[in-house]
Amino acid sequence: MGADSEARIVEQWAAIYDAVYESAEDASGADFAGWRSSITGENYSPAETAEWLDGTVDEILSLGPDSVLEIGAGTGLVVAGLLPHVGRYVGTDISATAVARMTRDHGHHPGTEFRVGDADAPDLPDGFDVVVLNSVIHHFPGPGYLRRALERAVKACTVGGTVFVGDVHSLPLREALRLCVLAGRSPGETTAGRVRELLAEQAAQERELVIEPAFFPAFAAEHGLVADMRLKPGVCATEMNLFRYDVRLRPAGTPLIAPGSHPTVPWDGRTAARLVADAAGKGEAVTVTGVLHPDLAPPVTALGELRGLDAIARVDVGALLDGARAAGEGGVRPGELRALAAANGLACYCLPAARESARYDAVLAPEGSASGPAAEAAPLSGRELTNVPRLQ
Ligand SMILES: C[S@@+](CC[C@H](N)C(=O)[O-])C[C@H]1O[C@@H](n2cnc3c(N)ncnc32)[C@H](O)[C@@H]1O
Repeated sequence: MGADSEARIVEQWAAIYDAVYESAEDASGADFAGWRSSITGENYSPAETAEWLDGTVDEILSLGPDSVLEIGAGTGLVVAGLLPHVGRYVGTDISATAVARMTRDHGHHPGTEFRVGDADAPDLPDGFDVVVLNSVIHHFPGPGYLRRALERAVKACTVGGTVFVGDVHSLPLREALRLCVLAGRSPGETTAGRVRELLAEQAAQERELVIEPAFFPAFAAEHGLVADMRLKPGVCATEMNLFRYDVRLRPAGTPLIAPGSHPTVPWDGRTAARLVADAAGKGEAVTVTGVLHPDLAPPVTALGELRGLDAIARVDVGALLDGARAAGEGGVRPGELRALAAANGLACYCLPAARESARYDAVLAPEGSASGPAAEAAPLSGRELTNVPRLQ
């Protein structure tokens, strides 16, 4: 994609966010204005947004930063959570309205600076313990911009610093999300061929950058870093928790649990309680592969069924999804596993699936024995690891 097209997309997002944030100014407590589930079309509930924000802030605080650069900081939701804990905070955004609000709300705090600028700006300050790109890279115009922006973020870190990339939209699970979106629009009974066409239309209209998990370990390895990738920390069955993941680009030498460095066992239907009890007895890390995610199983299974139908077969997407609910029975929710693990002195890291799958791998390790899982940097063999968002 050429520089002009990239610049046009960035400008379009700036205009969209200026408008969103200006209208949000009128409503009290409307910081989450514009935060809507694409599945239901409804605003997220206060409990869902609070879980998302608290979880994000906690994940970043667990990196122990004293200085933070946040790129695409919006109206400062994450700023407000982190500011009491850090001595220096620089926030940037392409929306002048967002920057004006952050300056108004937080600019009086010593050590803060808020400025208009995009993630590919050559003049980013540096020397930060953590650089945050939270819920922003899906607005990037394409893979080239993504790479440059991440390289700038890495350069802005102090030696030993971490780049935290939150809310990455999963490419392998995108089609399953599209099926849920379609069900939310209730197209009624139609043919399987028509449903497949509607999904293809959604894909062709895609305006967001959607990324395969494999992109990050490969990028990290190229830059002498290690990727630590996890499912989002929440428990609600929201689009955010099901179809997005978080990435930390960490310095080499961080004590991470490397794949293959400890026992790995396939999931055999054990409950969360059983998995935790078994891991607690081990005294070392264990990876359980292929744990069934009960909330992802219905859309992924329904998608498989849809693909297997004759084009003229009659189908109702809502009914197809409902019918696939049983596919999730007996599964283990990542949130449930993490909570039980924590109550039993274990850390639990749930990893995003590399392929379209309703299963995830869970690493269970004695609390404090490591600071996260290291993802393996597999050879990429020229595969595309992102989509190319459509110009609006
Ligand atoms: C969904 S909001 C997230 C705001 C904030 N990071 C948070 O987590 O609350 C996305 C923000 O990214 C900004 N943004 C979009 N594209 C950007 C880019 N290329 N460079 C910097 N900021 C960008 C938007 O203006 C918007 O404020």
